[in-house]
Amino acid sequence: MNISVIGTGYVGLVTGTCLAETGNNVLCIDIDENKVKKMQDGVVPIYEPLLDTLFDRNIKANRLKFSTSLEEGLNHGDIIFLALPTPEDEDGSADLSYVLGAAKNIGKLLKSYKVIVDKSTVPVGTADRVTEAIANETTVDFDVVSNPEFLREGFAVEDFLKPERIVIGSSSDKATKLMEKLYKPFVRSGNPIIVMDEKSAELTKYAANSFLATKITFMNEIANFCEKIGADVDKVRIGMGTDSRIGKRFLFPGIGYGGSCFPKDVKALHKSGKDNNYNFDILNAVIKVNDTQKRILLPRIDAYFKGDLKDKKIAIWGLAFKPETDDIREAPALYIIQDLLERGASITAFDPEAMDNVGRKFGNQITFAPDMYSAIQDADALIICTEWSIFRTPDFNKLKAEMSAPVIFDGRNLYDVQDIKNEGFYYSSIGRKTID
Ligand code: UDX
Repeated sequence: MNISVIGTGYVGLVTGTCLAETGNNVLCIDIDENKVKKMQDGVVPIYEPLLDTLFDRNIKANRLKFSTSLEEGLNHGDIIFLALPTPEDEDGSADLSYVLGAAKNIGKLLKSYKVIVDKSTVPVGTADRVTEAIANETTVDFDVVSNPEFLREGFAVEDFLKPERIVIGSSSDKATKLMEKLYKPFVRSGNPIIVMDEKSAELTKYAANSFLATKITFMNEIANFCEKIGADVDKVRIGMGTDSRIGKRFLFPGIGYGGSCFPKDVKALHKSGKDNNYNFDILNAVIKVNDTQKRILLPRIDAYFKGDLKDKKIAIWGLAFKPETDDIREAPALYIIQDLLERGASITAFDPEAMDNVGRKFGNQITFAPDMYSAIQDADALIICTEWSIFRTPDFNKLKAEMSAPVIFDGRNLYDVQDIKNEGFYYSSIGRKTID
């Protein structure tokens, strides 16, 4: 099939590349000329495991192309994916100006029947608004379908190629059939393509992300309570997770959820509730608890240094909001860095992928180390913000020898409390006993 993808951000690029992988001819459109030029030269603009291999292979096979022309995109595709940004407005709602702007232009340029697909995470009712924006400009026949993505950063290619489910919100048989044909190669294992109305599809995405954010937040509160009563959240987590109704995944406590989806989607659903006279009490609490959780280590760091962090040398391992990405959007590390800088601490950080992004934000206020051990030289304390695998089994002797004091604040519970006790560290983690 001929497919066009409007917007080559994270979702658009993964969607376009993976659809080319199953033999479709894909044209990706973006207004950023520089970016389009780079992609035409084979440069992947984001870090995402496996994407570069697929990108390269499909460009070489002539199945993946790039352009800045929306008109070219519209003429090329039978199905037109809208993968445009929906940034958070000041009031927490999703800003639909990019999506509706594109819809209007599509209406102006439409010459023959197309299926227009909302791929971005958009509030309930957006398919109707996109339909209206296009219909205001044209009399040509078209259908709008809602097809939310469930891609995890770091696993986006894998999630796209082997989805647990595909959700299609459509009220047109013709559009549904085309979408089913497009996605059939991805669900050969028998995972379902679930067809529903557009509004339910739009809500499914928000409900899934908000549920997961709530699950994590609930565990963060259990962890905080464990510390109060002397219980161990790792034990509680395993005890709970073996109940198949609860499940083992997304029960890991830490310094709060971040990223481009959870914080934005939880707030957008909460706002959507308000707009429809429904108060999501639970989401209100999730937002509040997560804001506090991102800074949960700071009072302990303050207490350890008796409120005096001036000129203390603090090492940070991990800056990205989670491993296997360079994404720092809503990353807990940013809040911790900001607060430490305000207290006069000097910070040396290491992250395998996200240092450039953090550098752009903090400039020379912090130092970046070329590797994890350079970061801890003479450090008065190490703070772990992201659970990259390389941090899981460090050389503790080296840490003890090269840090100024053997002190670790671990926001991701990477080490066994007993092991670290034997190694002779001061160790503070989440929902477990502090070793001092
Ligand atoms: C998420 C959804 O998983 C994906 O389906 C959706 O389409 C986009 O949003 P992503 O933001 O890439 O994906 O990351 P994910 O792996 O889900 O983690 C989200 C946040 O939750 C991270 O900050 C992570 O550190 C945190 N998390 C996750 C926990 O704190 N504990 C857990 O047990 C799991």
